[in-house]
Amino acid sequence: MTYEKIRVALDGPSGAGKSTIAKAVAAKTGLVYVDTGALYRTVGLYMAENGIAMEDEAGIIAALPEVDVDLTYEDGKQQVKLNDVPVGERIRTETASAYASAVSKIPEVRAFLLDMQKKIAARGGVIMDGRDIGTVIIPDAEVKIFMTATAEERARRRYKEQIEKGLNVTFEEVLDNIIARDRQDSEREAAPLKKADDAIEFVNDGYDIDQSADYIIDIMKKTAETMADGN
Ligand code: DC
Repeated sequence: MTYEKIRVALDGPSGAGKSTIAKAVAAKTGLVYVDTGALYRTVGLYMAENGIAMEDEAGIIAALPEVDVDLTYEDGKQQVKLNDVPVGERIRTETASAYASAVSKIPEVRAFLLDMQKKIAARGGVIMDGRDIGTVIIPDAEVKIFMTATAEERARRRYKEQIEKGLNVTFEEVLDNIIARDRQDSEREAAPLKKADDAIEFVNDGYDIDQSADYIIDIMKKTAETMADGN
């Protein structure tokens, strides 16, 4: 039984813990963790740094030929370069998040990042996290998981993080934001957040990181066994 070449598509809304759990799965199995949100963040970063407004769709599309996104893996760790310069933590700011969300709604931006993601997936041995991995990037993935947590559970986790950072927020504000973002992500026209028909839905309320990772690894093992049996 081997799952070295398996492709795991992991989709779901923001704040469900996808990246943390995907990293844990990668560490336990040797799969490469591919963070596709980082690509949208990198395109967003270019626009932010070049003074293109996030509402300016035509301006964003016109600037795409100036953007070179390079994706490599060193010791299984993803490195993204924007025009030859590593993006590092610059893609993790609030501004980069807002820009990532804005650019990800534009079909031309999604098309721009499509080949790169399909090529990485084709190597196999990957767990890719995003919003359209099971529906668009790897529709024939061996394992598809749509991971969510209830809005209340995600709000509890996010509220705890923000309070720990010393931010002055109320639980209701955090919850309202999450509900609004879910609605925006699922109602947008280009690649709306949607569970693939054949994805396994995993609601991870009450699971910690380790238990969530093991839940996914268990599905990977069962899939690998079924494949080995020729079923
Ligand atoms: O997962 P993340 O927060 O890093 O994603 C950043 C933004 O990019 C988020 O607004 C959703 C969007 N995104 C997307 O539309 N498709 C993907 N495959 C990954 C991310």
